[in-house]
Parts: sequence; structure tokens; C-alpha cells
Amino acid sequence: MFQSRIGGIGFYVPERVVTNEDLARHMDTSDQWIQERTGIKERRYAEGGKESTSSMGANASKIAIERAGIEASDIDFIIFATLSPDYYFPGSGVLLQRELGITNTEIGALDIRNQCTGFVYGLSIADQYIKTGMYKNILLVGAEFHSMGLDYSTRGRNISVIFGDGAGALVLQATEEEGSGILTTHLHSNGNFAEELAFISPGAHGGYHGNEEMYEFPDVEFGGMFITETMLKEGLTFPNMNGQLVFKNAVRKFPEVIMEALKKTGYDPTDIDLLVPHQANLRISEFVQRIMKLPSEKVFNNIQKYGNTTAASIPIALCEAWESGLVKKGDLICLAAFGSGFTWGSALIRW
Ligand code: UT7
Repeated sequence: MFQSRIGGIGFYVPERVVTNEDLARHMDTSDQWIQERTGIKERRYAEGGKESTSSMGANASKIAIERAGIEASDIDFIIFATLSPDYYFPGSGVLLQRELGITNTEIGALDIRNQCTGFVYGLSIADQYIKTGMYKNILLVGAEFHSMGLDYSTRGRNISVIFGDGAGALVLQATEEEGSGILTTHLHSNGNFAEELAFISPGAHGGYHGNEEMYEFPDVEFGGMFITETMLKEGLTFPNMNGQLVFKNAVRKFPEVIMEALKKTGYDPTDIDLLVPHQANLRISEFVQRIMKLPSEKVFNNIQKYGNTTAASIPIALCEAWESGLVKKGDLICLAAFGSGFTWGSALIRW
């Protein structure tokens, strides 16, 4: 049976740096509030008209592909995790395929919608395909263009200050080397919290989930009304979050799902060489670190520079950790994520 190993890794963040002071010019917030509550100092915003979710994904992918020592034409499957796709449909996976110049139509391109846990879900999917021998070189991408869809008025400040743009990519390859690569992955979800961190409208819910006030009957003369006046007036066309509830659940579920992966493989928290958590909020990472009794040098954080980049945050952090020499051959690396859905998950990797 094959194992999957990480053959190459890359990340891309846009050039434009947006500081907390920049945001404070548009909404009632401050550098002090943002740093105290989230640890974030700045984030990157992509350039509209020149960049997109899939173009950022392609930039990260090119680096990962080169580091894997293969050509784009060797990729036999694409998995694209994002909550901010270029188009409502088709998915960003096919756009990435085109952007990378992959003309081989034998490959598949899968988009996944698991928000902050998207990358861990994608890793788990890729791992299963490689283990069964179906694919040999899978390109897994997490990318987000959040800045296109945030509410920059004071109404949206609890969300807008957190998110940033960027992309990360891995090439997962088949290996027969026992005990190396992806050791285990664990995925969870609880749909009862679906609306607690969500971007609900526009959408095809038709007012079904108890949100009738957002719905107006599609106008046959002018076309279906995905976006209604009520939605615009009430700011429903932006993401919404019950921050405290998300925080409380995150600090419980992160340690739980990390322990689940350790138990499955017979390891202890002390065996972890580096924990790379989804960069949700520096305070969440610090909480998890304390609960897991890990020293600071064993938990990697870069949210201070990039904000929360959702599906891109784990591969960006993992790549930056690797580039700075914090991930070495033979290390036990733990990935963990929690977010909208709610969904949460973990992975253990022997590098
Ligand atoms: O990627 C995974 C999903 N997301 C997360 O993991 C996020 C989890 N949650 C959080 O990180 C935190 O809940 C936040 C950082 C979003 C908010 O921090 P908080 O300490 O939970 O603040 P809060 O929502 O309880 O709000 C406290 C106060 C409120 O004012 P009042 O009602 O006390 O007067 C807010 O209106 O802070 C206010 N506030 C702000 N003030 C300045 C909310 N956002 C801001 C802001 N600047 N950006």
C-alpha cells in the first residue's frame, strides 16, 4: 500500500500590506483593539482586476510543483479548498488547471467547501486517493480572496479586521517508504452551528432555513433575485460571525482533535515537533498551546503578518515554517483546524 508524502510546498501572498491603522480609517477600530484581541498587526489584500483566488492559487502551486521536482503536466488530480471562489460556478479547480497550462483532460479537479478546515479536509481526501493507488501526484491548494467581500463599515468590524488574502499549495506524492508522510487524518462537523459563522446571501436558500426576511420571490421579468434590497440594507450580503461562540468552541475542539490524532498513532503531545494550527486568532493558538502544555517554539504562528486566510492559512504557515528551517526530515508535524460549519480536523505528518 502507498503512503502519501509532501513532495513540494509553496505559498503566495499579495504585495499590498494593509495595517490595522489603515482599517481604522474606514471603521471604528484601533490597532490596540485588534492586536489585543487577535494578535494581528497586518494582512495582505489582493489587487482586484489583476489577481483572483485561482491566480493566487496558481502562484503558490508553481512553487510547490517546482520544489516537488515535477512539471505541472505530471499532476493527476487537483483539490482546491476555498470559501471565496472566483465564480459561483464553475469551481476554482478548473480555473487553476487552465492557469497552470495543464491540457491533460485525464485529470480531475475537485473544489471543496470546508472553510477554515478546508485544507485538512483536502489533505485527507488526497491521502485516500494516494493510498488506494488511484493518483500519484495530487496538487492540493487552499486560497482566499477575502478582501473582495468584507464589510468595511463599523457594522462589520468584528470580521473585517481578522481576514486576509493569500494561497498555499502542496504536492502530495505516493511513496512506499513505511512510516513516513501522512500518518493519520481526522475530520468532524456539526451542522447545528451552520449560521454562527456564515456568508448566507446571496445563496439559493430561498428563505428556507428560517431566514424568510432575506427572501423575495424571484422576479420573472428581471431574472431570479439572489440579492434582494433587504439583504443589501441589512448588511446580509457579508459574512457574519458569533465571535465568542466560535472562540469557545475552537479552544475546546482544537485540543480534542489533536489528541485524537495522537491517540490513533500512539504518540503523546511531547512527541510533536511542530504544531501548525489554522491561524484563526493568536489568542486561540495560545490557549491551545497552554492546554496541550507545548512550549512556544513548538507552535507556529504567523497570523500577525497575514491575518486569518481561512483555507490558505495552514499551507502558508507550514510553508513558512519549512522555509525558516523549523520543519526537518523525520519531524512529527501536527496540523489542526476549526471553523465555519462548524467543521474541525487534524492531521499528523512524519516529514
Ligand atoms: O477562522 C475561524 C473562525 N473565526 C475565529 O476563530 C474567530 C473567533 N472569535 C474571535 O476571534 C473573537 O470573538 C473576535 C476577535 C472576533 C472578537 O473578540 P471578542 O473579544 O469576542 O469581542 P466581542 O465580539 O465580544 O466584542 C466586544 C466588544 C463589542 O463592543 P461592546 O458591545 O462591548 O461595546 C464589539 O462591538 O468589542 C467590539 N468590537 C470591536 N471594537 C473595536 C468588535 N470588533 C471590534 C473591532 N474594533 N474590530
